[in-house]
Amino acid sequence: MEVASTIADFRNSLKGDIAFVPTMGNLHDGHLELVRIAKRNASCVAASIFVNRLQFGEGEDFERYPRTFEQDCEKLEAEGVDVLFAPIEAELYPVPQEVTVNLPKIAAELCGASRPGHFNGMATVVLKLFNIARPAYAVFGRKDYQQLHLVKQMVSQFNLSVAILEGETVREEDGLAMSSRNRYLSEIERREAPRLYHRLQEIAQAITMGSRDFSVLEKQATADLESRGWQVDYVEIRHADTLETPHETDARLIVLGAARLGKTRLIDNICLEG
Ligand code: PAJ
Repeated sequence: MEVASTIADFRNSLKGDIAFVPTMGNLHDGHLELVRIAKRNASCVAASIFVNRLQFGEGEDFERYPRTFEQDCEKLEAEGVDVLFAPIEAELYPVPQEVTVNLPKIAAELCGASRPGHFNGMATVVLKLFNIARPAYAVFGRKDYQQLHLVKQMVSQFNLSVAILEGETVREEDGLAMSSRNRYLSEIERREAPRLYHRLQEIAQAITMGSRDFSVLEKQATADLESRGWQVDYVEIRHADTLETPHETDARLIVLGAARLGKTRLIDNICLEG
């Protein structure tokens, strides 16, 4: 695996049909699953590791975000990644990034409501990385469903020539979605953490059984989590394709949740196929 820290070196290492997996590092099996999808779709697999300051708000975890570069390299190498792009900040942001991506209104809802500017910073770096790597394919995880949705909107509305591939959420045995942030959890919090997924599962089951009292289901799950000490940012049922508030008759639904356990913010979602 070649490791490039400059844009020029990265571009020189790319050959043929490229599938690209952007990450912020501290890699787990969720990330590696995306790499496996990339491998199945293109002859050259590129990954990036860059903790993007632009998508972190004030008081968020940019400084303490886990950085485990050596282990990450070993994992990517073992998966057969061809090129890793790991730039320093000055390479991607040589001047203050004043040109940014303006996103649809939905970016200010759900995670965007509690993390103002987050998706704007995310989309801006993703667009830069796409322009640098010029991949035929880029792979994103469904775990960050709103991010995936916005990337797809950006690609389509900016006519970018990249096909977005999607990876299912990879979970720990007890259901907790794998996340770099899980390592912030104390032992007690770690035992509590799967509850978010379980409450979303309960909502999904109730809907499958015919319940259409969306707001009651959302409130019950929120109350349960709060009674266990969670600070809930949102639990919401939305339309899976638009992320808009659904009509009672909509079948393609997604149940999304974001909540804090102590200092750790966890997100998850379950898609109901309609
Ligand atoms: P990061 O959180 O490192 O995630 C990189 C990719 O891995 C994203 O597409 C994310 O959805 C996916 N991923 C994370 N956990 C997953 C899991 N448990 N199962 C499946 N996929 C999972 O998302 C980002 O970085 C950044 O916002 C980025 C797109 C790199 C832009 O900075």
